[in-house]
Amino acid sequence: MLDHELIDLVGAAHSIVVLSGAGVSAESGIPTFRDALTGLWARFNPEELATPQAFSKDPRLVSRWYDERRCNVLKCRPNAGHFVLAQLEKAFQEKNRPFTLITQNVDRLHQAAGSQNVIELHGNLFTWRCVDCGKERDENGLAFDEHPPRCECGGLRRPGVVWFGEALPGEALLKAQRASGRCALFMSLGTSSVVYPAAALVDLALQNGAKVLEINPEQTPLSRRAHWSLRGKCGKTLPDLISRAGN
Ligand code: OAD
Repeated sequence: MLDHELIDLVGAAHSIVVLSGAGVSAESGIPTFRDALTGLWARFNPEELATPQAFSKDPRLVSRWYDERRCNVLKCRPNAGHFVLAQLEKAFQEKNRPFTLITQNVDRLHQAAGSQNVIELHGNLFTWRCVDCGKERDENGLAFDEHPPRCECGGLRRPGVVWFGEALPGEALLKAQRASGRCALFMSLGTSSVVYPAAALVDLALQNGAKVLEINPEQTPLSRRAHWSLRGKCGKTLPDLISRAGN
């Protein structure tokens, strides 16, 4: 049963910030990180794959793992949750109201669904960058022949994701913080809310008096502080809510 105050707020909020996590892409067939059985960090050790030290120690292994993820994601399609967020952005643009989509996801499925302005806090799987000269190139094709792929300058190229121990892209974080501190409604969708600094964005929203909505099948550390914490899947609960709000 959806709360009327929430439905009205989604329809009338002067600005919305969405923070999405791996749960938003789960219904597209992309594994989350912390699910006890299928999550990536339940099956693989992040220290061996997702740190700068891991890449220095075994660049081939790290490159193969990220390239396999990249190729798997290329086979996946956005789900109803992604599409309804793109639709909500459009509706807000038409009304000249700010709508900011911040994602921790590296799969670019929001963009594939039509979202125009996506703040990628953790980078993405497709932009590989040379560790020597810094040159970036987008990789949307077949699996690489060599691991890691090489830059024209001869340097090794690495995936453009943020690894443990690395700083988030400064401009993206600043934009995310600014928008969070100004919004009327903050939606935390499909994230375990345990990875910082992304998990701290909601604090900026709460300090500014924003209302907070969480959608997640499981309870998270945010659940008790959110004004609404809906237990459900984003691909179903979110479209239901948005259509009731008339956006
Ligand atoms: P997690 O794997 O930590 O959390 C995914 C959340 O999605 C969990 O709370 C699930 O209960 C929930 N969930 C699962 N299916 C869902 C569905 N259909 N609808 C809604 N929610 C669902 O993923 P993140 O919170 O995104 O960082 O993880 C944050 C960061 O930790 C990732 O960006 C990644 C990881 O280490 C980097 O790679 C830098």
